[in-house]
Amino acid sequence: MSSQLEKVQELINLRKEARLGGGEKAIAKQHERGKYTARERIEQLLDEGSFEEIDMFVRHRCHNFGQEKKSILGDGVVTGYGTIEGRLVYVFAQDFTVFGGSLSETMALKICKIMDMAMKMGAPVIGLNDSGGARIQEGINALSGYAEIFQRNILASGVIPQISAILGPCAGGAVYSPALTDFTIMAKGISYMFLTGPKVVKTVTGEDVSQEDLGGADVHSKKSGVCHIAAEDGEDAIRIIRKLFSYIPQNNLEETPLVECDDPIDRVDDELNEIIPDSANKPYDMYRVIGAIVDNGEFLEIQPDYAKNLIIGFARMNGQAVGVVANQPKFLAGVLDSNASRKGARFVRFCDAFNIPLVTLVDVPGFLPGTGQEYNGVILHGAKLLYAYGEATVPKVTVTLRKSYGGSHIVMSCKQLRGDMNYAWPTAEIAVMGGAGAVEVLYAKEAKASEDPKKVLAEKEAEYNKLFCNPYNAARYGYIDDVIEPRNTRFRVIRALQQLATKKVVNPAKKHGNIPL
Ligand code: HXC
Repeated sequence: MSSQLEKVQELINLRKEARLGGGEKAIAKQHERGKYTARERIEQLLDEGSFEEIDMFVRHRCHNFGQEKKSILGDGVVTGYGTIEGRLVYVFAQDFTVFGGSLSETMALKICKIMDMAMKMGAPVIGLNDSGGARIQEGINALSGYAEIFQRNILASGVIPQISAILGPCAGGAVYSPALTDFTIMAKGISYMFLTGPKVVKTVTGEDVSQEDLGGADVHSKKSGVCHIAAEDGEDAIRIIRKLFSYIPQNNLEETPLVECDDPIDRVDDELNEIIPDSANKPYDMYRVIGAIVDNGEFLEIQPDYAKNLIIGFARMNGQAVGVVANQPKFLAGVLDSNASRKGARFVRFCDAFNIPLVTLVDVPGFLPGTGQEYNGVILHGAKLLYAYGEATVPKVTVTLRKSYGGSHIVMSCKQLRGDMNYAWPTAEIAVMGGAGAVEVLYAKEAKASEDPKKVLAEKEAEYNKLFCNPYNAARYGYIDDVIEPRNTRFRVIRALQQLATKKVVNPAKKHGNIPL
């Protein structure tokens, strides 16, 4: 064998060794845990054969605790680039078979390198997390590695989309990188995120709690809102990322690629003309309306199990990606509260940062009253949603289906928050408050003084409702651009979006605003 051939063979052998990560035994253990390896995950994520690995020969530089004797090619993370549906994406996948995927100084350098490349090329970064946290043997060097990653997460925020999948442990400060990214997908059963684990919790607070109950996918998708979508398992998480990716652009200067639309734009849905119940207190399902107006009824919901009174997610209208924000009358009557406001605000800001038009469907009775909400800071949380809509410069189309009262009317993308096209169904009630509450304030004394207080209040309520609880009063002042037939909603929204395609609005120059956090 020539010396060149020998060198080529050495390369082939080294590559083979690197691809085994922590070795066959560790890979078998990973499979036993119900988890895929880093490389298997990347294969599932990217278009077949598109992955180009970078830094396969990196090794850690630690000499503490005999680490110099345990040096593994690639050092616990697989990094590189490839494509999803032909579009460039940068990816890192932590390799649990190598030191439990723990983060070393060199592992951080690998991750930072592909983040820097993603910024240079204007392409999204997807992180597949499965790690025991900071590499304990490396001490402060591991910590500084985390900080380097966080700094890049921050600078990349709003410039390139960042998506995290949690496919194993993600504990301690490690949780902050996913938290800084735009979307966090957790796989049920195998993933958990917490700042301090059950043992520390027990020591500090005396509380007994399992990993699952402290930071499993269920907890973070239903209670904390940290997780945007809880996937059934690791494979499902990756399938969801591919789907999510199809709705978002490469960076803040581009738009999401158009998809050919085989759903007629003038498709009418007669059932929408009858969907609003006669009784104002009866709910209907907002999912039905969303399904009726978007292309082929396809909707990727974000945070489906958190603050269900507000629905957010991605869909397409005539092939163009849109962000949908809609009150859900079926849950808490569609009221806005702290959690719904925070959920909506972050989504609106994501869409605005990445040039995704907003379609807002309104049926909101108001903000949830009470000490629970006030003590929780609903004033600040509600202001977040208000801020997000008012700041957004992407095309904004709003349709009011039924209730739109008071502060919640303003917050839900009203005309004065630079709503571009604001439509209402004939069933819309756009007023400062509902009729019953209004007459209590205005006519309580008069009713009390009368022989039949109930009758007086009922008459005044009917008068109030006739005057205010309709769309025409708002339309009369131009606050509503048109009152539309519900069955035509799809067509009218698409027409509006087509008109708004060349919209250009620039906010005043500033370092950054001060959103009420
Ligand atoms: C070095 C680690 C490690 C770590 C795991 N390993 N975590 N090595 N540093 N942080 C190693 C184990 O020693 C083991 O090596 C291998 O990875 C697999 O781990 P197991 O414990 O066998 O796996 P499992 O039973 O599934 O348990 C997984 C685990 C557990 C729950 C993640 O390993 C664990 O609790 N690890 C420590 C978590 C932790 O406290 N991390 C530090 C947090 S502080 P061998 O050689 O036996 O195969 C932190 C600060 C960050 O992260 C701050 C950022 C700002």
